[in-house]
Amino acid sequence: MVEAIGVGLFGCGTMGREVALAAASGRTGAARVIAVFDLDHPRALELVHGLPGLGRGWGSPSAPSALQEFLDTPGLRIVVECASQAAVRAVAVSAVEKGLDLLTISSGALLDQDLHDRLVAASERTGANIIVPSGAIGGIDTVRAVRGMLDEVVLISTKRPDAFAGAPGFAPFEGRRIDAPTVIFEGNAAKAVPLFPANVNVAATLSLAGLGPLRTKVKVVADPASPGNVHEIMARGSFGEVRLRFENRPHPGNQKTSALAVYSAIEALRSYCSRGIKVGT
Ligand SMILES: NC(=O)c1ccc[n+]([C@@H]2O[C@H](COP(=O)([O-])OP(=O)(O)OC[C@H]3O[C@@H](n4cnc5c(N)ncnc54)[C@H](O)[C@@H]3O)[C@@H](O)[C@H]2O)c1
Repeated sequence: MVEAIGVGLFGCGTMGREVALAAASGRTGAARVIAVFDLDHPRALELVHGLPGLGRGWGSPSAPSALQEFLDTPGLRIVVECASQAAVRAVAVSAVEKGLDLLTISSGALLDQDLHDRLVAASERTGANIIVPSGAIGGIDTVRAVRGMLDEVVLISTKRPDAFAGAPGFAPFEGRRIDAPTVIFEGNAAKAVPLFPANVNVAATLSLAGLGPLRTKVKVVADPASPGNVHEIMARGSFGEVRLRFENRPHPGNQKTSALAVYSAIEALRSYCSRGIKVGT
């Protein structure tokens, strides 16, 4: 029996709520949500009050309005970020410097070299782990395994036009009718992520595993007939060639977020909280 693990949930939106539900129902094993935080404080309170069993024997989680109070929660072992790239900038370094493990889904933030280096340094100093789930794609284990043998990695992300609403990279297309598949970005992951911050975390995750943000090629396509949030990956090198296609259903709570990314975050937390055989990590 693994002892209960104190989890701090950072972000109580679509994904945060699903992670909380999974933890409350025991699907993440020893995880016990003991604190929740959201910039939108009423949302954090709503989550705590709406899920009375959330702490599973540890009592009701706290919902502090101050970040430091959240990080100082007694028994806290891991911060699970399900919020935004801005949230990673706000919480990640402080958490890891305190020796708290960090599971972060908004991987785009890690393409900021300064933040990346500070996190690595803090993790080396305190021994805290930083976990980036595979999110809305898979095959990250494969890309990591052949990292030194890669010549080319390409990601093509296709979504329905409304999934890009509000993204800086979609500004030239905003309000225009898109009737056919339209390439709205072509370049590298370093350029794609700030232009589509809520859409291409997958580009960041893929580039962190493989060739890095400058050499990972990204194409973003708006297609009204897209069957969902589709990510196609091609990786080739001296090891051979891999082609993967993910046809994800958007989560009903947020068109920009693939349901698969939610399942991936839940599975990453379950795996973190478990012992025994870990397959494919
Ligand atoms: N890695 C992947 O493959 C992948 C896939 C899908 C989504 N994501 C990312 O996961 C994150 C969560 O997605 P979601 O669908 O739950 O979003 P959401 O908009 O439904 O919820 C986000 C919540 O976080 C809160 N929040 C935002 N910034 C904050 C901050 N600085 N401090 C505290 N709280 C903050 C918001 O108030 C909101 O309640 C997003 O960053 C999204 O881009 C990653």
